[in-house]
Amino acid sequence: METPLVHLTEIELESVYEPSEDSFLLIDALELDSGYFEYNNPTLCLEIGVGSGIVITALAMALKKFCYSYFLGLDINPHACKVTKKTSDTNNVNIEIIQMDLLNNIQNKNIFDIIIFNPPYVVTEALEIFDNKLINKTWAGGYKGRQVMDKLFPMIPHLLSAKGIFYLLVIKENEPTNILQLFEKFNIIGSIIIERKIQGEHLFVLRFKKVIH
Ligand SMILES: C[S@@+](CC[C@H](N)C(=O)[O-])C[C@H]1O[C@@H](n2cnc3c(N)ncnc32)[C@H](O)[C@@H]1O
Repeated sequence: METPLVHLTEIELESVYEPSEDSFLLIDALELDSGYFEYNNPTLCLEIGVGSGIVITALAMALKKFCYSYFLGLDINPHACKVTKKTSDTNNVNIEIIQMDLLNNIQNKNIFDIIIFNPPYVVTEALEIFDNKLINKTWAGGYKGRQVMDKLFPMIPHLLSAKGIFYLLVIKENEPTNILQLFEKFNIIGSIIIERKIQGEHLFVLRFKKVIH
């Protein structure tokens, strides 16, 4: 997968997440499935917490080679939404962007063929996730780094299409095995598809699919 061109100004960097090892690992994980995408032609793709837009733009650039998909990105941070628009324009792909807290306003059921989330995963004090500073929202994950992502998990079964795939970036402290077990209760099966140790962090990408009987 090609890496999109991303440019963040000094001011944007004060509140928007700069593409990092976790963003690149997520792109590598999507690349592993590019053959599957070509075969399956995902129609509706969603990224929650777009930040600079690097991940959803990379996906849009790859998919446009063989299908016409719709891309929706959302972020709680309005500056991230603006930067994502800039990133998608720079790389000649079309992404609809909404400023939103997780999926509060999405009512449609089971429509997304791809959902991606690189959440704020760093272990912090529980109350830190309520800090109003937008830059803190890029990393502060609260207890076990799980407080933000745990809010999203119960929504996934209602958003994912029958053939849909959910990609989630986590670190060791988030307890990936526990997350995989949790999703089994939703009839969604997952596994670790790629992992990388970097300085001070062990990153994993989990991939989930619905169990179809
Ligand atoms: C670790 S950054 C990932 C950014 C980008 N996806 C990447 O991989 O480079 C997490 C992103 O989630 C956003 N975010 C945090 N809490 C959110 C929420 N409740 N609803 C929507 N977005 C949220 C942050 O603003 C931030 O852009």
